[in-house]
Amino acid sequence: MDKLVIEGGSPLSGTIRIHGAKNAALPILAACLLAEGQFKLSNVPHLLDIEVMLNILGRLGSKCKHELESVTVDTASANSFHVPEDLMKQMRSSIFLMGPLLARFGEVTIYQPGGCAIGERKIDLHLRGLQALGAEIDESDQKIHCKASRLVGADIHLDFASVGATENIMMAAATASGTTVLSNAAREPEIQDLQNFLNSMGANIIGAGTDTITIHGVEKLQPCQYEIIPDRIVAGTVMIAAAATRGQVTLTHCNPSHLSSLIHVLKRAGVQTSICNDIMTVSCMARPKAVERIVTSPYPSFPTDLQSQVMVLLSLADGFSIMKETVFEGRFKHVEELCRMGADITTDLNCAFIRGVQRIYGATVEATDLRAGAALVIAGLAAQGTTIVEQVHHIDRGYDRIEKMFQGLGARMMRHSPVTKPLDLAN
Ligand code: UD1
Repeated sequence: MDKLVIEGGSPLSGTIRIHGAKNAALPILAACLLAEGQFKLSNVPHLLDIEVMLNILGRLGSKCKHELESVTVDTASANSFHVPEDLMKQMRSSIFLMGPLLARFGEVTIYQPGGCAIGERKIDLHLRGLQALGAEIDESDQKIHCKASRLVGADIHLDFASVGATENIMMAAATASGTTVLSNAAREPEIQDLQNFLNSMGANIIGAGTDTITIHGVEKLQPCQYEIIPDRIVAGTVMIAAAATRGQVTLTHCNPSHLSSLIHVLKRAGVQTSICNDIMTVSCMARPKAVERIVTSPYPSFPTDLQSQVMVLLSLADGFSIMKETVFEGRFKHVEELCRMGADITTDLNCAFIRGVQRIYGATVEATDLRAGAALVIAGLAAQGTTIVEQVHHIDRGYDRIEKMFQGLGARMMRHSPVTKPLDLAN
């Protein structure tokens, strides 16, 4: 297993281009199955999860190619609605195939999806949404078979504004007969991106970005070309890393309007941000200030996917902060690792109490999931001494070669693969 070796303690500085959004690209890749023919997607990042999705599409009979940041997917030859169990277990996002396969073939077989171990991560809202559109669902143990001779638009209310369930229902309803009105829908920018993509294919969907999405079913969709939005979580991770190392970093090709809640938190912490269109500069020249209370919640509130990274900044802040996690119940696994680096954090149920310390110190720590791993990288960059982050494959799911990303900003950080020689970080 790869490790990252980080020699911390230097401020990050420089300019970085933000890659395309994993969470937008994954449902969009699945949605390609809704039409027959060749799609061309640009700004698609090279990530483990994207590779898994392309593998699945290939196993279902499509032809896929990922060159530079461009993906071509030809779905004309797709001929299977059985998502292979081994790939299904590799990531949660394999669930996105359910809606498109059901719409295209009238049938789909999937297994309980895998993914980051950050909570129970049920799929009941996905299943209930598809049932409301007329699907019959047969669950036995890990296997789920879903069938519908015809999908029919319906009024669907989500008990929780689930991102994945909103997207699955939008995809299944795009070619259903009649109109679907989805209320208490999630409002994430990635959902707006999916709506724009589906509409580029000929769908008739309005409302994404609000809590009510109306999907007027259309007869048929066509392939299209489409550019994926920038990854707001990668951008946020870089912004927090710049602040935690007391550096100055300029991000290009980002969408600052997708990062308002983080910008607000950074402002409260005394971190400066300046914005000009899709370029943003973040700088922090003094010790950050504590932020009394941050609560994670669906968009536009503070994202759960940046909770662990911000906790590193608060660990180094002057004063006492509280972080409340309301989206996933198992998302404090980084706390123990941060404490091993000298942070002073205690937790009680879904609240973390963070007493800022002057310094944290390098240690050997384990990335337990994608964003926890990103937080440990930030901690390593800000710490005195050497940090070794293990289980890097979790981080590779969402960051395109994170070591290259931060090396470009002056970080002394290397990947240590079992096949490569030991590292010399002396220079
Ligand atoms: C998506 C993002 C993930 C992010 C999360 C919340 C992708 C590929 N992933 O994940 O990075 O952390 O949104 O912003 O876009 N739930 C149920 N039943 C369901 C579905 C969800 O109870 O059928 C619960 C989950 O267990 C969780 C909460 O709802 O507690 C949020 O999950 P959801 O919004 O669905 O997240 P994902 O789509 O899995």
